[in-house]
Amino acid sequence: MADYVLAIDQGTTSTRAMVFDHEGKVVSTGQLEHQQIFPRAGWVEHDPMEIWRNTREVIGQALSRADITRHDIAAVGITNQRETTVVWDRATGQPIYNAIVWQDTRTQSIVDRFAADGGVERFKDTVGLPLSTYFAGTKIVWILENVDGAREKAAAGELMFGTTDTWVLWNLTGGTDGGVHATDVTNASRTLFMDLKTLSWDESILDVFQVPKSMLPEIRSSSEVYGTVESSNLLREVPIAGILGDQQAATFGQVAFEVGEAKNTYGTGNFLIFPTGTEIVKSDNGLLTTMAYRLGDGEPHYALEGSVAVTGSLIQWLRDNLGLIGSAPEVEALAKTVDDNGGAYFVPAFSGLFAPYWRSEARGALVGLTRFVNKGHIARAALEATAFQSKEVLDAVNADTGEPLKELKVDGGMVANDTLMQFQADILGVPVVRPVVAETTALGAAYAAGLAVGFWKDFDDLRKNWQEDKRWEPSMDEEERARQYRLWKKAVTKTFDWVD
Ligand code: G3P
Repeated sequence: MADYVLAIDQGTTSTRAMVFDHEGKVVSTGQLEHQQIFPRAGWVEHDPMEIWRNTREVIGQALSRADITRHDIAAVGITNQRETTVVWDRATGQPIYNAIVWQDTRTQSIVDRFAADGGVERFKDTVGLPLSTYFAGTKIVWILENVDGAREKAAAGELMFGTTDTWVLWNLTGGTDGGVHATDVTNASRTLFMDLKTLSWDESILDVFQVPKSMLPEIRSSSEVYGTVESSNLLREVPIAGILGDQQAATFGQVAFEVGEAKNTYGTGNFLIFPTGTEIVKSDNGLLTTMAYRLGDGEPHYALEGSVAVTGSLIQWLRDNLGLIGSAPEVEALAKTVDDNGGAYFVPAFSGLFAPYWRSEARGALVGLTRFVNKGHIARAALEATAFQSKEVLDAVNADTGEPLKELKVDGGMVANDTLMQFQADILGVPVVRPVVAETTALGAAYAAGLAVGFWKDFDDLRKNWQEDKRWEPSMDEEERARQYRLWKKAVTKTFDWVD
């Protein structure tokens, strides 16, 4: 019996392969960053071929670092940056355009066009999402309308669409030589095309978008054997048995399977997921209704989601665009050179504002500046922006569900930042809790794959693996919390309507 499960985490900034043992512990990791391509303001692209090359390479890194082979791997799970859109030629396997990344806002005019008839909530009852540049649907339309010959090729059945889970799965299972063209329900629920009740593509919406169904992958569950790895790969013949969009994977990795077991992931963006069980809950407060998971032919599970576009990527921006820090973790030391934000508030509406506002026309603002403000205050304001944005999402969850959250489970890269986590607890007024394995995204994909092949028996088997590492208790007094939040809200309004 193989002792491990390998998860591929195809994220926004890097691709990782992680090997987990039965206790959910990380045995080894391979990781490679890929290029972020910014052809114009508001555009963000990735090279799908680079992503595929990196995927192969990180698998090799993870196996060799653990000194194991494919015989030690019971199954492979895939998790991915969601919504990022790849369209490729069925016959050659070559992408016809770069991947258009979830953060990309180029499709605003397409959103406006569809929203002209029925508003941005036009399809929300069916798909759970407002019309927004964020989701894959409008990105597919952009490619069909702007890449030479794409519309005709699509009509002739010569193109394939996939989010990066599908891209990786298709290539891993043989690509042009019989690759499996499939996705799971969680990723499909981010396209604007999947009916949340039937878990199938909605033909009437596809008609409106003029997207041929032949381009779309088959929608499968999050935990089943989709296929096996092709023969030239180091993992040949290993079953690929789990797919979850990265935020749903993190929820799974936090063993937050049941109603109300929320988690917040701190990555390039922040994503709070609040499972609602088998019930489809509509939000009146700017949250998305989305899939949580479906295991095999079991009942589908749903969630409310608060998506925040820019949190960790603001720290990268301080590093790459301003040169304020040499590496992302240095932001904490810089923020600690001051006691507070000095009156500065930084609203990073770089991709417009996602939850709870859904304002694509918003642009970033740094307000409250005086001669007193220095780079320490700016670093601090950048960290605080992450916490304030998560507070807004949590308020929306509390309003929608009527049951205030008593504590918040957190994960992702930024939860190593103690200053941020303390401020998060302070501004929320509830404890913030970090598990021992903070790499819950990859772990969740491993769990989904392992469940499908019997490596793990059931949820209880997984729950045994969750352990608390650290807890931050709120210590800010009520009045100060209210004052800071009031100023943040005021700062947010300064980003609205930033159009010429
Ligand atoms: O919806 C976008 C999200 O899935 C991206 O996550 O962790 O790659 O920033 P991440």
